[in-house]
Amino acid sequence: MRFAFFDTKPYDKTSFERFGAEYGIKFKFYDTRLTEDTAELARNCDGVCAFVNDTLDADVLEKLADLDCKYVALRCAGYNNVDLKAAANCGLRVVHVPAYSPYAVAEHAMALLLTSVRRIHKAYIRTRDFNFSLNGMTGFDLHGKTVGVVGTGKIGKVFIDICRGFGMHVIAYDKFPAKDSDIEYVTLEELLAKSDIVSLHCPLTEETRHLINCETIKLMKKGVVIINTSRGALIDAECLLEGIKARQIGAACLDVYEEETNYFYEDLSGHILNDDTLARLISMPNVIVTSHQAFLTEEALSNIAETTVKNVTALHDENACVNELIWKNGEILHGTPKAE
Ligand code: NAI
Repeated sequence: MRFAFFDTKPYDKTSFERFGAEYGIKFKFYDTRLTEDTAELARNCDGVCAFVNDTLDADVLEKLADLDCKYVALRCAGYNNVDLKAAANCGLRVVHVPAYSPYAVAEHAMALLLTSVRRIHKAYIRTRDFNFSLNGMTGFDLHGKTVGVVGTGKIGKVFIDICRGFGMHVIAYDKFPAKDSDIEYVTLEELLAKSDIVSLHCPLTEETRHLINCETIKLMKKGVVIINTSRGALIDAECLLEGIKARQIGAACLDVYEEETNYFYEDLSGHILNDDTLARLISMPNVIVTSHQAFLTEEALSNIAETTVKNVTALHDENACVNELIWKNGEILHGTPKAE
């Protein structure tokens, strides 16, 4: 099989070339993102391999189907950028990588939190300049603090374990709470009112879009630290900025940003940033932004490549895959139904 691989970064190639060779799949690597204009690059390919910022709306999917592509292999967990209904309508089969290293993302969330509350980002810059002053560097203990975890799936659960290791009190909200778990579930309102730290680990859906907005920010404790390693649009960035300016929000740790598509993963140093909200957020002393890198560990990259090649091989050889995403009667099915 041949796949057009969009939005290629140097760190993608090694693992995909290795597993591709093992499973007889040839990847054609393109730096460009998948859009309506670049879809043509998938001509003579069995499918495309796409990432979080590639466009997979109805227009692009129809174009891919016209080119006789059969598969959309997402090399990520989230699939909010794919119009699954349109994919089903034009006969394209979509697979994703639901888990590759929940540890990578949960550990990054904790790294951001520790960096923020212990001012590591400031200390690093100060000491490089031989500035050994501690003024303005006072942090706070995580031990004994309440952390509210929104979404207790694979990543949320690992993050909970890490927080417990720090002696934090963990409360959680999930639309579908885990059964038979020792997690203390509360309502979203209660979580927001009681948490010193709020960490988001739920998917982006119509229901969760702008979960953190001007109204919900008002429900939070003054000085709350917000961590988002999930999807940018879970937070209304304008409201976040207002909350920070009003000193209601003590700090924000962001690995994702609502309008990240045009900026993240690219070296834009030397350019004028056109997004005033992002520029303002980055300029705040209590905001840490990383460029959607929570997934980026060697273990995760290897797992992503291996699962992706196994996904498409399973569809091709057995006409079924546990990681297939199917839109059926308004619902999303996970895994090819047995009868098909
Ligand atoms: P998961 O599917 O294992 O867990 C998601 C949890 O959110 C589930 O327990 C689900 O019941 C819950 N949920 C669904 N709707 C909800 C709602 N309306 N309110 C509250 N909870 C709700 O997913 P996983 O693997 O833990 O990933 C979580 C998210 O992390 C993904 O959706 C993805 O957007 C993001 N992610 C970010 C990465 C990064 O590099 N920054 C890498 C991988 C994932």
